[in-house]
Amino acid sequence: MRYALVTGCDHGVGLSLARCLAERNYTVAACRLNEEERQIDKLAEEYPDRVRVFTLNIADDASVREMRDAVGCAFPSLDLLINCAGVLGDMEPGPEEPLDYDLMLRVMNVNALGALRVTSALLPLLRKGQDKTVVNISSEAGSIGDCERTGWFGYCMSKAANNMQGALLHNTLRREGGRVIQMHPGHVATYMRGHLDTTAPNTPDASARGILNVVLDQPLPLRDRPLFLDFRGKELPW
Ligand SMILES: NC(=O)c1ccc[n+]([C@@H]2O[C@H](COP(=O)([O-])OP(=O)(O)OC[C@H]3O[C@@H](n4cnc5c(N)ncnc54)[C@H](OP(=O)(O)O)[C@@H]3O)[C@@H](O)[C@H]2O)c1
Repeated sequence: MRYALVTGCDHGVGLSLARCLAERNYTVAACRLNEEERQIDKLAEEYPDRVRVFTLNIADDASVREMRDAVGCAFPSLDLLINCAGVLGDMEPGPEEPLDYDLMLRVMNVNALGALRVTSALLPLLRKGQDKTVVNISSEAGSIGDCERTGWFGYCMSKAANNMQGALLHNTLRREGGRVIQMHPGHVATYMRGHLDTTAPNTPDASARGILNVVLDQPLPLRDRPLFLDFRGKELPW
């Protein structure tokens, strides 16, 4: 029996990841932010033995503690943690635009600190798992080596910081037989921009299948530094 936890399962890539993991016989703790989002409830009805729904706001310490306690009562261990929840914030075109620093702080709190909050809270459960694998859904936008944009400050900076927290946690986990993988899910047709992004070539299901194929089916090298891969397994520059 393998146990996984996915954040951001209200819709989009997180929902698809939860579905794909249930199809692969994982028992899944599917965490959603908004209790009025019911798609994950339908999945739990479809897989009553394999999908458990939890409420989680990764930007809030108390919510993360509550989730940790609830999951700790329901699950004996955790093999795979996928930090998928994220927000976009403003897509400011450049530094001469008015910059909303309060919004940037909120984006940072979700995208960078949120993943750290969750992983840190779940470390004891991960340590009891067989695989001890953490996958952070980062973004190509967090790559400093490949940075071509002139804006999107909050999002790009928060994903670069997400990469750093992943690298720091990898240094702890790899000594204990685990690992962290930083993952770009591709350009995916979701509602992250506030409307369906019809310019995106990938469906959430295709992205999720790709991510799990890379993480679970391919013999990935375990290096001193974490891998930064896209959903097809291609390495990205840090
Ligand atoms: N779509 C792309 O092209 C793309 C590209 C690169 C990286 N990514 C990354 O992929 C991940 C999934 O994004 P997506 O495209 O699937 O967008 P999405 O459909 O908007 O999914 C994001 C999920 O995170 C949840 N969330 C937001 N704030 C949260 C919080 N404070 N606590 C817990 N959950 C929270 C959202 O819930 P609500 O919507 O209910 O608020 C939603 O379920 C994100 O980390 C994103 O940065 C996406």
